[in-house]
This record gives sequence, structure tokens and C-alpha cells, in this order.
Amino acid sequence: MSTILVTGGNRGIGFGIVQAIAQRIPSSTIILACRNLATGREAIDQLRGQDISSNLDAIQLDIEDIQSITNAVEAVNDRYGKLDVLINNAASLQMPKTQDLAELRDCSNINFNRCVTSNILVTKAFVPLLRKSSWPRVIMNSSARGSLGRTASRELPPVALIDYCVCKAALNMLTLHYQINEDNYKDSGEKITFWSVSPGHTKTAFNNYQGKKDPVDSAEAFVRLLESEKGAIDPGTFWEYEAGKFQVVPW
Ligand SMILES: NC(=O)c1ccc[n+]([C@@H]2O[C@H](COP(=O)([O-])OP(=O)(O)OC[C@H]3O[C@@H](n4cnc5c(N)ncnc54)[C@H](OP(=O)(O)O)[C@@H]3O)[C@@H](O)[C@H]2O)c1
Repeated sequence: MSTILVTGGNRGIGFGIVQAIAQRIPSSTIILACRNLATGREAIDQLRGQDISSNLDAIQLDIEDIQSITNAVEAVNDRYGKLDVLINNAASLQMPKTQDLAELRDCSNINFNRCVTSNILVTKAFVPLLRKSSWPRVIMNSSARGSLGRTASRELPPVALIDYCVCKAALNMLTLHYQINEDNYKDSGEKITFWSVSPGHTKTAFNNYQGKKDPVDSAEAFVRLLESEKGAIDPGTFWEYEAGKFQVVPW
């Protein structure tokens, strides 16, 4: 009976994650944390039409807005008193239109804020509620683009915006450091398990629907992690589900 919050659960991979968890782990309570609450409610209506029995809830959360983050933590505390799983999925990118240096600086700063800093703040804000869970977990929606190993081995096709890879590599570094902190955590409350996931190239608005996978299929690695028994999968690891295999991604 886990309470699972998915940022940006209203569409794209976030919606696919909600849908897959609702189908495969129906005992879950899934909170769609959306910057526009109405889109979260619409997403829930869509899932209800698919005969899903999980408890579905929506809260307002703009990951770039501190007041909204604080309000979201308060709402989860009031309704559930704890959080078992935080899935940091929400992200967007600002593409520079020119090579003007001032514009490049602005875009890079905006992208780092959207894809990294916002996840730092959301995670920090939810830690007190996560500590109340018997097995708190945080999953970062990363990307193979954030893998230094895959990048160094030249196995990835050219990328539209290098900022994106830099942000996802930073998110992976964050996952590792958060895990190292947890390994040394000695205060009250449970230790948090941190994982990163590469969902794979997915048909969403993010890439103008040029991806190969449907969002619900891109949720597979998330679901495998959530279906695992406590202790079965090492904390501080990076996962994907590709070509029928659930496997580790090199950092
Ligand atoms: N698509 C791929 O091939 C692919 C591959 C690897 C990793 N990913 C990762 O998957 C995640 C989701 O991407 P996607 O492809 O599903 O993109 P998407 O379809 O564009 O969905 C993005 C989601 O993030 C939400 N969001 C953006 N900024 C937000 C904010 N400030 N506060 C709250 N929610 C916000 C959006 O909400 P609104 O509806 O309000 O805009 C939307 O729900 C991202 O982290 C992305 O890097 C995607």
C-alpha cells in the first residue's frame, strides 16, 4: 500500500508511469503532481475510463515555484501523513534560437533550473515525509543521455541540445550523492533509496512524438524497481528496460 507521487503525471512519460503503476501495482495510491491541477484531474478521468482501481489523487505542484512545492508537501502531509515514493519526472527544455552568448547563457541557466535545481528542491522538501515511510524511495527520471559511459563509447546518436545531456548527467551525480548521504544517515527515520532510470526514446511532446516507445512501455523500469523486494536492488544504481531486458545503465 505505497503512496507514490509522480511530478508531471498528467502527460507524457509521467502519465505512462502513473498508468503502469495503476495497472501493475493496484494497491498503490498515486498522486499526480501537476503544475496545472485541472490537467491532473483530466488525466485521472482518462485513467478511470480504463477501469483502474488504484487510488488516484491530484495536487498542484510547479517544480520551479518554491511556494507551490511547500504547498504540495503540506497537501500530501494533510492527506497521507507520509510519502513512500517520489518520482522526479517533470522537466522541460528551452531551446536557444540563436548562438548569441547572452541567450545561450539564459537557456543553459533555465534548463539547469528546470531539470536539476527544481528536482533538488522538490526532493529536499519531501524528505521529512519520506522519512515517515517504512521504505522511502526516490526515482529520478534521467536518460541514457546522462550516461558518461555511453557518451564516451560513442554509442548514442547526435543530440539536439547538449544542455540536456549535461543536466541529466548532473541529475545522475545528484542521485549518487544523495545515496552516499543516505548510506551515512544515522538520525531518526528510514534511510532513503535513490535510483535513476533511463526510460528510453519515447513518443512525447518533448521530442515532437519522434520517440520509438509508448509512454506506458517507457514506465517498465520504474515499475520493475517498485515491484522489487526491499534490498533486492542496490540503492544508488541506474536502470533501463530495453529490448526485453531490465538492466543497469553505466553512470
Ligand atoms: N521523451 C523521451 O524520449 C525521454 C527520454 C528520456 C528521458 N525523458 C525524460 O522524461 C521526463 C518527462 O518527459 P516527457 O518526454 O514525458 O515530456 P512531456 O511529454 O513534455 O511531459 C513533461 C511533463 O513535465 C511537466 N512539467 C514541466 N515543467 C514542469 C514544472 N515546472 N512543474 C511541474 N510539471 C512540469 C509537464 O507538465 P505540463 O503539462 O504542465 O507542461 C508534463 O507533465 C523528462 O524528465 C525527460 O527528460 C524523456
